[in-house]
Amino acid sequence: MKKIKIRGGRPLRGQIEIGGMKNAALPILFATIITGDVCVIENIPPVGDIEVTLDILRTMGAKVTRLSPTVVEIDTREVQQGSSPETLVRRLRGSTYLIGCELARFGRAKVGLSGGCNFGARPIDLHKKGFVALGASVTDDDGYVSAQVKGRLKGCKIVMDNISVGATANILMAACTAEGLTTIENAAHEPHIVDLASFLNSCGAHISGAGTSIIKVRGVEKLHGCRYAIIPDMIEAGTYMVAAAATQGEVTLTGVISRHLDAVSAKMKEMGIVVIDDGDSITVKTTGSFGSTNIQAVPYPGFPTDMQPQITALLSLAGGISTVTENVFKKRFRYVEELRRMGAAISVDDQNSTATIVGVHRLHGATVTSTDLRAGAALIIAGLAAEGETCILAVAETVERGYCDIVGKLRAVGADIEFVDEE
Ligand code: EPZ
Repeated sequence: MKKIKIRGGRPLRGQIEIGGMKNAALPILFATIITGDVCVIENIPPVGDIEVTLDILRTMGAKVTRLSPTVVEIDTREVQQGSSPETLVRRLRGSTYLIGCELARFGRAKVGLSGGCNFGARPIDLHKKGFVALGASVTDDDGYVSAQVKGRLKGCKIVMDNISVGATANILMAACTAEGLTTIENAAHEPHIVDLASFLNSCGAHISGAGTSIIKVRGVEKLHGCRYAIIPDMIEAGTYMVAAAATQGEVTLTGVISRHLDAVSAKMKEMGIVVIDDGDSITVKTTGSFGSTNIQAVPYPGFPTDMQPQITALLSLAGGISTVTENVFKKRFRYVEELRRMGAAISVDDQNSTATIVGVHRLHGATVTSTDLRAGAALIIAGLAAEGETCILAVAETVERGYCDIVGKLRAVGADIEFVDEE
């Protein structure tokens, strides 16, 4: 089993280059299917989930050529509808996007049930509701979701019951080739929704309003290929911002779009941490101790749920008492048990999905298990700050899915961290 070993207590100092955003790359890679053409996608993060996505596309008949570690050419002219491999599909939440993409290209879809980080149920009722509104019939039985429409999907007004990144992206992709105008109200605002819309428009779609609550799509007959570069990963950047503060270091993150991190920067400043925003770089440093604050994890532009475990690890070391309320995935506190093993003083009220954190002076090393991608990042942050040695188990199945070379990047700024492969 692959694990990460950290000897903590060393301040991080230096510069880290941020890579492409995993959660922007996933829908864009699947959306190349809609074009039935050749696309070149740049600034792709070479992480586990992306490799699985490229393997799914290859199995479906796409010609995938790696032009460099972060640039890939994808020719989807020969892609076969309904041919995605169930074993790979179940490893990703993002494979849900195949439904919208197959519908947009072929007028029918058949995809195995997807997977993803396990912090509670991951329903796709909002996705299905959108496809039905567009005129498709949708069924799910014996582990597959099937959808089909006679002729073309028909544009319409869709009001989302609640804000969903995945459902907004999936419906957006399906609507690209629907007949007439589709309006998605109560849409997700995330930067990766804007990135997806920008990619689809580069392929000939007519989308406006991405990044606001109302997105309009005027359907076209067909999309064509394009060359496109993925936005930088705001969650990767936020993770290293928190790591710098937790270790009392000073780190500059380059290649970012700093406004994507406004909610994270604002909260860290509230804690008394120095955050210097230079547009395409952000520097974080602490002048000794930092204070408590209260966090509400909500959809963008609020504090991101994908930064909730990481900021909780930081607040474990803050002076005073803090609270973190999770409003997106109610059960996203499984990692707290692992932080407690390192001396964190956290209690979780499951009723209102709120963690109360009493800051401690030091955490101590321990052997802990990464329960999901961002939980693993939180444990790494805690291990970097803790006294002594921390061993983090199950990192291949979690951390490596979404963080490119996290051990290399941290070692380059002074961390004593290594991968250990053990039978
Ligand atoms: C995406 O998940 C991300 N995953 C998640 O990142 C991220 O936490 C989440 O968006 C929120 O930002 C990918 O992009 C692959 P949602 P997604 O639909 O699309 C409920 C990471 O760490 N819901 O916005 O699944 C849902 O249960 C991962 O990189 C329904 O009820 O999130 C949740 O409570 C973890 N029905 C809320 O909506 C639906 O049909 C928001 O989920 C869809 C969602």
